Amino acid sequence: MTELERHSYDVVVIGAGGAGLRAAIGAHEAGARTAVVCKSLLGKAHTVMAEGGIAASMGNVWPEDNWQVHFRDTMRGGKMLNHWRMAQLHAQEAPDRVWELESWGALFDRTKEGKISQRDFGGHRYARLAHVGDRTGLEMIRTLQQRAVSLGIDVFMECTITQLFKDGDRVSGAFGYWRESGRFIAFDAPAIILATGGIGKSFKVTSNSWEYTGDGHALAMEAGAPLVNMEFVQFHPTGMVWPPSVRGILVTESVRGDGGVLRNSEGKRFMFNYISDYFKAETADTEQEADAWYEDHVNNRRPPELLPRDEVARAINAEVKAGRGSPHGGVFLDIASRRSAEFIQKRLPSMYHQFKELADVDITKEPMEIGPTCHYVMGGVEVDPDTQMSKVPGLYAAGEVAGGMHGANRLGGNSLGDLLVFGKRAGEHAAAYAAGTAANRPTVAESAITAAGDAAVAPFSREGGENAYTVHRDLQETMHTLVGIIRTAEEMSQALERIEEFKTRVAHVSVEGHRQYNPGWHLSIDLKNMLLVSESIARAALDRKESRGGHTRDDYPATDPSWGHINVLVRLNSDRTGVEVFHQDLPQMPDELKKLFDDGSH
Ligand code: FUM
Repeated sequence: MTELERHSYDVVVIGAGGAGLRAAIGAHEAGARTAVVCKSLLGKAHTVMAEGGIAASMGNVWPEDNWQVHFRDTMRGGKMLNHWRMAQLHAQEAPDRVWELESWGALFDRTKEGKISQRDFGGHRYARLAHVGDRTGLEMIRTLQQRAVSLGIDVFMECTITQLFKDGDRVSGAFGYWRESGRFIAFDAPAIILATGGIGKSFKVTSNSWEYTGDGHALAMEAGAPLVNMEFVQFHPTGMVWPPSVRGILVTESVRGDGGVLRNSEGKRFMFNYISDYFKAETADTEQEADAWYEDHVNNRRPPELLPRDEVARAINAEVKAGRGSPHGGVFLDIASRRSAEFIQKRLPSMYHQFKELADVDITKEPMEIGPTCHYVMGGVEVDPDTQMSKVPGLYAAGEVAGGMHGANRLGGNSLGDLLVFGKRAGEHAAAYAAGTAANRPTVAESAITAAGDAAVAPFSREGGENAYTVHRDLQETMHTLVGIIRTAEEMSQALERIEEFKTRVAHVSVEGHRQYNPGWHLSIDLKNMLLVSESIARAALDRKESRGGHTRDDYPATDPSWGHINVLVRLNSDRTGVEVFHQDLPQMPDELKKLFDDGSH
């Protein structure tokens, strides 16, 4: 392979969103020679779609807040399926990560007293999201990017990794291509951190952009690391629905956090009809009580619009199905009738511009039309909660690609904290692991490099095969209609049959032209990952015979306590042609943490 470019590092981070950048900073500061490889331009990451803020119990607005309350909210939001240790570390360390960002130059909105301001979000008992208007993720990426670049960390932009290398059981490097030239590149590294984000591009309606094809999930599985909780996919309740070209684009939960309400075609605040028993005690059941909550979180109960996302998305789906939807198949999100134009433009500047420019709607005067959009996957690589190492020595995962932290449903605002807390941990532990391999560093075999190159160019040697775009469109339609918000065994079995057909079709996809910037070729490689991830979701979802969090089954509508201590995991089967499911018991929560739930709230 004459044009192969080779590099050697201690730690290679794949992905440059919040988790990847924080991991790279952590590894570099711990003394490791570190590189970041990203599929897109640096700074273009789904992190920016976490618009509303970073959840951290800093107590700036409500001094009553503390890590124990945040931990409890996170576990209850995840329907108690979260890895307790990850939820604990996250709740304990998120405030320090926010203050650290500020010391690196992030400019957060302030309270009247000059502290970092914190806003309300669904499922959080207190206003605890540190924010920058509705552009928090963007500010976070800007700050981390500046820090990483100023530290001199090497960045390989627009470079896609297609395969990981192993030496025995241990990871030893990665193989990829430059998107512009199509030339190959290989990295030797004893520690690799996956920070590739999510899987949204397997679904038809999504807030995710083109990069999110489940690459890290697939790379991990192919390297032998199991994934956990893949049945739990988060449909954010509020994505744009009109016009069609912008369907799925995120409408931040901050609109509801700042007082916006959901109405159906009859103008009714329908969420009062959808308060589950699980959250009844802490949810207001009258409009008056709901509105008073913004003044006094302690004595009042939360508005039903601020129930966790899984509950709100299901309610919107039900209203639309019952014929009470908006003209384009969503419902209405109304902040115009509840807050002044000045307040809206100050707190939600991006939403104001997004609707004005993309939909010709002035949100200070009219309601928005919104509906659920595939936003996040709770499932990911099974990792050690303290170090973030997967079951494959030297392979780490942080952020959305890692599983466990959010259980069956993630609370809004908990992803930015997750990226920072576990990005830092992954970086530091990967650096220490790499240092420990100095005397016995794993190597990359030449034959493995040749095989990776041959696999990557295979679609060019097929003639008259199918176009990658057609298969992708069919896969998205299948996942949307058969493995979406509401699922049944029959539909998921049908989806799995179709996925088998897609595998055959993908094996025959052919690509025309040459390797210089060829998006059809890139998609043919990404499709393999999307299929593996889609099969993982469908198999895990078929296996879990209950409804819980982001997994709702029409044929098993109740939450079944006997599933409450079981994690569903997936791995490649022995002939590597598909996915197999297995179970593990949830790790036992220590008694001192169990006591936080002693009021019988779960
Ligand atoms: O609605 C939002 O601003 C998204 C936040 C998140 O996913 O954490």
